[in-house]
Amino acid sequence: MNDEQKTLVLRWLNDAYAMEQGIVRTLENHAKDAQGNSALSKLIHDHIETSQRQAEHVERAIERLGGDISQLKSAGSQALNVMKELPMAFAGDELIKNALADFATEHFEIASYTSLMTAADLMGDQELVTMCRDIIAEEQAMADALRSAIPIITRDELSSRS
Ligand SMILES: [Fe+2]
Repeated sequence: MNDEQKTLVLRWLNDAYAMEQGIVRTLENHAKDAQGNSALSKLIHDHIETSQRQAEHVERAIERLGGDISQLKSAGSQALNVMKELPMAFAGDELIKNALADFATEHFEIASYTSLMTAADLMGDQELVTMCRDIIAEEQAMADALRSAIPIITRDELSSRS
């Protein structure tokens, strides 16, 4: 892999780092909204910890490849801001809106790490391939859990208004 290619992969890793930081902030807000729902609250808190760990793994990969995240510490994720623009249909259904946005976010992460895993494979960097594969599995588990939760919180929301 030449210098230009390596610089590009490092930029993608920096994007992934910023993405994880943004997700932690978003999920902290969603955890507050989910305080009244212990199962959902636990799911979100667990994924906050997972995302923090993922950010550390990505940071270590950046450093190992000779990059630097210091200039990115305060950068947010552009992609995640788009998710926040989902319209609020009516007040009180934040849990549903949050779950829909989080489900979309997990799939954006899966797409991002799939791309990174391909780059890592082309670089012959097996350690980075493994990191991406492990993170994809964690994002998929969160997406699956949200998919199971969405019907439950939708029924709860409707029955609370019956
Ligand atoms: Fe993540």
